[in-house]
Amino acid sequence: MIPYKHEPFTDFSIEENRNAFLAGLKTVEAYLGQDYPLIIGGERVMTEDKIVSFNPADKEEIVGRVSKSNKELAEKAMQSALEAFKTWKKVKPEVRADVLFKAAAIIRRRKHEFSALLTKEAGKPWNEADADTAEAIDFLEYYARQMLRLKDGMPVMSRPGEYNRYDYIPLGVGVVISPWNFAFAIMAGTTVAAMVTGNTVLLKPASTTPVVAYKFIEVLEEAGMPAGVVNFIPGPGAEVGDYLVDHPQTRFISFTGSRAVGLRIAERSSKVNEGQIWMKRLIAEMGGKDTMVVDKEADLELAAQTIVKSAFGFSGQKCSAASRAVIVEDVYDQVLDRVIELTGELTIGNPVDQNNFMGPVIDAAAYKKIMDYVEIGKGEGRLVAGGTGDDSTGYFVNPTIIADLDPKSRIMQEEIFGPVIGISKAKDFTEAIEIANNTEYGLTGAVITNNREHLEQAREDFHVGNLYFNRGCTGAIVGYQPFGGFNMSGTDSKAGGPDYLTLHLQAKTTSEML
Ligand code: NAD
Ligand code: ALA
Repeated sequence: MIPYKHEPFTDFSIEENRNAFLAGLKTVEAYLGQDYPLIIGGERVMTEDKIVSFNPADKEEIVGRVSKSNKELAEKAMQSALEAFKTWKKVKPEVRADVLFKAAAIIRRRKHEFSALLTKEAGKPWNEADADTAEAIDFLEYYARQMLRLKDGMPVMSRPGEYNRYDYIPLGVGVVISPWNFAFAIMAGTTVAAMVTGNTVLLKPASTTPVVAYKFIEVLEEAGMPAGVVNFIPGPGAEVGDYLVDHPQTRFISFTGSRAVGLRIAERSSKVNEGQIWMKRLIAEMGGKDTMVVDKEADLELAAQTIVKSAFGFSGQKCSAASRAVIVEDVYDQVLDRVIELTGELTIGNPVDQNNFMGPVIDAAAYKKIMDYVEIGKGEGRLVAGGTGDDSTGYFVNPTIIADLDPKSRIMQEEIFGPVIGISKAKDFTEAIEIANNTEYGLTGAVITNNREHLEQAREDFHVGNLYFNRGCTGAIVGYQPFGGFNMSGTDSKAGGPDYLTLHLQAKTTSEML
């Protein structure tokens, strides 16, 4: 077996690669506006009622109309998943892993088509879309190998005359609920982790990005996944989501999304409903309010460059995005000035144009929420960049910096999920770490310093699931930087890490007398 290695990012300075991406865009443009069915037990179910997926950079452009599930169809999908579980759980782990390896190969061949679809459906600039597709491939390659590592369980001791085994077996039917911001990677990663472990799945993707999810299920089918193993049931979170979360035959839920929805799921899933014979397991990865800390003994150019990239890459719509910077007072003005200067150089526009660093935000609701926060920010601090937007053709928000903020201000505490960064001053490094820890979240964080003692202080005291030194706080790589957060950022499941698959399994001890 070739050892796991993460999928390289595409170098778009090479003409051949640029042309390959443009060809991908052409392929996607040829299928824009189509109707898509649900997939239940392998059957295509077209509904009258549709989710309309449009291009956030160009509201007039319909990416696809996707059939909308409801309670009755969700129940049908549950029955199909329960039936498929009876056989899928007995399929050899090697065969299940093979579906993932084959799917990775298919996606690799169609890499630029998938990335181009993300550009259209999620408004991702080329490099961000390419990274999303690469991460989806990584999840397939990594989890397939992890399943092979777990297939014979873990060694335990046996006394003379005894044969003890410790094996991992699947749980049952899992409900996978995914967000739109890593519309491919997180949707695919959470789905295949659940199915490669022998469970069957009900996938409810985000309503803004259902087309890429449909295309992915087609890939799994082509790769040999049997009918009913993953059922595709997009639909309204409040109706389909609540129904499946409450369902007595749901064995586990794998959710990635906002704090509000995650907590709602945590509460509902903890209730035992009639006919339910287990406690549901919940994996919930939620929001972030991620901080970049800049020390006085630091490469200040690196600090400014990484703040700008981490704050405004994909318009700040990453759970890992730098939405706060805390800068030690000795270098505050110098770093802030350079951050403002670099932000002024960013290009914004339709991401089909490779030259645009930033595209739109995802939809009208996000645009309004972000612009409302800009107004709050103007009252709480000093607006030093951006603060404007344009929603006439798509949902564009200019990169915005609010400086001189009280660390307890709303801009410094609440997840905005857009291209807005708040900046506060700290009197020294210790205070900077205290400020970095003062939110209810704990997902990512970064420290820029050349002081070894301060790095070690941060290693101990900066309370986040993913901590980075002398680099930005986004861009975790599957298998290299397992990803997940503390506190209200979720259950710290560490997607792309060595323990992740076991969250989808239960361990069984058998002890035989010889
Ligand atoms: P969201 O919570 O609005 O939606 C996530 C999913 O939940 C969607 O599929 C949605 O339809 C569904 N949903 C909505 N209501 C539901 C309900 N009552 N029951 C069940 N499901 C329901 O989040 P979003 O806007 O799609 O994504 C952005 C959020 O996700 C941000 O907060 C971001 O930080 C977070 N996020 C976290 C991670 C992580 O790994 N920690 C990764 C990506 C995104
Ligand atoms: N893997 C994504 C990042 O780290 C969430 O930015």
